[in-house]
Amino acid sequence: KIINLKNEAIQKISTAKTLEELRNIEIEFLGRKGTLTLLLREVPLLPTEDRPICGKTANEAKKEIEVALAEQIFIQEESRMQNIQNSEWIDISAPSKPIFFKSGKRHPIHAFIQECETVFGRLGFSVAEAYEIEDDFHNFEALNFPPDHPAREMQDTFFIGGKLEKMVLRTQTSDIQIRYMEKNAPPIRIIAPGKVYRKDADATHSPMFHQIECLMIDKNVSLANLRFILLSALKDLISPDTDLRFRLSFFPFTEPSLEVDALLQVDGERKWLEIGGAGMVHPNVLKNVNINSEEYNGFAFGFGIERMIMIKHGITDLRLFYENDLRFLSQF
Ligand code: PHE
Repeated sequence: KIINLKNEAIQKISTAKTLEELRNIEIEFLGRKGTLTLLLREVPLLPTEDRPICGKTANEAKKEIEVALAEQIFIQEESRMQNIQNSEWIDISAPSKPIFFKSGKRHPIHAFIQECETVFGRLGFSVAEAYEIEDDFHNFEALNFPPDHPAREMQDTFFIGGKLEKMVLRTQTSDIQIRYMEKNAPPIRIIAPGKVYRKDADATHSPMFHQIECLMIDKNVSLANLRFILLSALKDLISPDTDLRFRLSFFPFTEPSLEVDALLQVDGERKWLEIGGAGMVHPNVLKNVNINSEEYNGFAFGFGIERMIMIKHGITDLRLFYENDLRFLSQF
């Protein structure tokens, strides 16, 4: 009986296809109510002389079944792992897949300022910066603005209250001319980019925008020098076939003062567009920073950076620069 049971078990074990089947075979023969277990319990009921041989045979049968089970479980476990390795194969030596992410870009305003620094740098100009919160002297007085000039009105300029009552958010980068000339003797060749503030807001005006100032002080500087420097820079910055046109204008800190128009391609047409202000530095301004205006003179010009980029790329709404919409920014 024992041998028959054992053979049956070994036979079942050798043809079992899953671990679950093997577990069931184990229960069937060796479980608490398994056939071999029940048979073993009968041993004490046998005649005394039969007990040793039956007990021994039963224990050996049990061992054999256990070994066969263990072997088969090992084989099945092996092939299961093999299957996993085949189906979930990972080549840890393979080069990684490229990770795609949107690369960062400089904001178009910042990028244009850097271009200006490069282009004017080639022409011998270095970069100067100053403060966005400025005092009346540097923003107005030293630049020859009369006390009743409209730019000094509350509706045109942001004045700061309280203890900083006399301070303003600078309305132009021309204050940097003063700050630079106070500390540096001629010859001077600087450009000065920065944020400026005016109480304007619509599609083409923002209460904060950027300007870039250019100042050259030396002996015998002329409007021809101004024209050459500005035209050379614009050819590099905007378009090689641009040209310049000057119209008489007025700024307190330049004499003569000029409105600068550039010939540019707009909507498939070549048009004169106003790009900024310019002029020869007013002798009063030089006097205010202790530069001898008999010995030295110079030119200055300033233009709006957003406006330049708008012209260059045909952008019609200035506010796009500040909304930080990646669909806009990623085009540059
Ligand atoms: N600061 C002037 C403006 O903001 C521009 C300018 C700069 C004009 C330098 C002349 C010379 O309108």
